[in-house]
Amino acid sequence: MEQLHPQFLIYLDDKASFMANLVRSTKATPSNKAPFLATYRRLLVINGANLNLLGVREPEIYGATTLQDIENRLTQTANTHDIELIFVQSNFEGELIDAIQQHGLLGEDDKLVDGVMINPAGFTHTSVVLRDALLAINKPFIEVHLSNIHRREPFRSHSYFSDRAIGIICGLGHLGYDMALDYFLHQYSLASEAN
Ligand code: DQA
Repeated sequence: MEQLHPQFLIYLDDKASFMANLVRSTKATPSNKAPFLATYRRLLVINGANLNLLGVREPEIYGATTLQDIENRLTQTANTHDIELIFVQSNFEGELIDAIQQHGLLGEDDKLVDGVMINPAGFTHTSVVLRDALLAINKPFIEVHLSNIHRREPFRSHSYFSDRAIGIICGLGHLGYDMALDYFLHQYSLASEAN
């Protein structure tokens, strides 16, 4: 097997060890994982352009659930695990970059996060600067898309984020966000078991 798609690499990476060995035995480039450090018990949830319109925007693709619904549900789950979520949605690339810089690196301790869940929306396919911001803070991040970007127009298949994400969840609608949060909650519980 010459090369695995990065998406599969990521999913396999956290599965049973024989799967991990399979990945290691390929010539595929290893995924760049920042280690998960459970320092702040806080996560950043970023949503890019037009996701403020969830619920009314092309509901046949993105569903009827609003961003507020998603954020409320995530908050409820996070609260039960004593995790704080910081939500940022913007239609402006620069605002998202500022938020990533602040919560990832520059802010005071009470603003810093351990990881990021991001749906970059249309910026997925265009934004080197947003990618650079995420790489600059060197925190693990999960890329989420409501739709399956690989089943849509060809230009949506390319992401500036996937090769550096811990994992990519796409095509599972609003539930993708819960799954991403679940992954981080699992990391938090592993970290507390280790202490
Ligand atoms: C999206 C997919 C992108 O291609 C699109 O530009 C979006 C939303 C998704 O969640 O499916 O705005 O990221």
